[in-house]
Amino acid sequence: MSALTPASSSAIPKAEIHMHLEGALESELLVVLAKRNGIPLPSYDPEVLDARYRFGELQDFLDVYFGNLAVMRTAEDFHDLAALYLRRARENGVVRAESFFNPMVHVRAGVPLAAVMEGYGAAFADARRDGLSCDLILDFTRDLGAEAADDMLTQMAPFRDAFIGVGLDSTEVGYPPMLFREVFARAAADGLHRTCHAGEEGDPEYVRQALDDLHVERIDHGLRAVEDPELLRRLADEHVPLNVCPLSNVALRAVDRIEQHPVFTMLDAGIAATISSDDPAYFGGHIGANFAALEAVGASRDQLIGCIENSFEAAFIDAAERGRHLEALRVAVTG
Ligand code: ADE
Ligand code: ZN
Repeated sequence: MSALTPASSSAIPKAEIHMHLEGALESELLVVLAKRNGIPLPSYDPEVLDARYRFGELQDFLDVYFGNLAVMRTAEDFHDLAALYLRRARENGVVRAESFFNPMVHVRAGVPLAAVMEGYGAAFADARRDGLSCDLILDFTRDLGAEAADDMLTQMAPFRDAFIGVGLDSTEVGYPPMLFREVFARAAADGLHRTCHAGEEGDPEYVRQALDDLHVERIDHGLRAVEDPELLRRLADEHVPLNVCPLSNVALRAVDRIEQHPVFTMLDAGIAATISSDDPAYFGGHIGANFAALEAVGASRDQLIGCIENSFEAAFIDAAERGRHLEALRVAVTG
């Protein structure tokens, strides 16, 4: 039994369906880009920069994260960031990557949208040529409001083939999903998939609104759903995936200790939980490290392989591709 490959191993194929490309900006690359573009940083020592990553809550993290993004200026910068993430993802056994990108912050900083899309698009095209299945999901900054999100969706029209869905990120409390009803309806009418950060810091009502007002296909985080047994039953009955990021939740203090992570309650309730890294440069590691953290506190191999199956089921891919990934997973698990 002990010889069986653990779920955290890169030999076990995985889908990563909740991560932000802007959250993969490792300090080494941050320094390279800052120097390349002449943008000042508080330090040019990656270790000193990493030491700042101690957060009291989501907003503390977002302040540092958005601050660092000032170094992103050119198509080459966006290419280098995405290429770094996609390389790390493959090193972690990822065979399907669905990655959030949020152009709103860059466009507001004066970066042309075309530069963002050229850079990210080139890195994703290269990865596809190397055999990785990967797609982009457009995230809206919820605290900029619904009108800004709607405007962003309009601006993205020339790049419609470059992304497969929309999501909602950044400051949650005070910006409930219902505010974004119309822009999500517009995205749905345009054939885009829908997902939404909800229940990371917001109460269960945020999760309910994501389902009822935004008609999302999956929820990012969804932690606080465990406070509401009726909602938990509904999520299980309707097979709504909850895209959980354990190291993120500990780093941002949504969860005190990893052994108390709500993913265990979710799995007991029959929820289709999945595991991803959220912002791997900030929270202590990529998807493999997130699986390893759960293994270290007693999550069973069956539970974690189940989460990987859930992520392939939840991925925005066709049935043939899903079948191929699930078969490769079965072979890796039993082999
Ligand atoms: N943007 C990047 N990471 C995020 C998170 N964990 N929650 C909300 N917005 C984010
Ligand atoms: Zn996230």
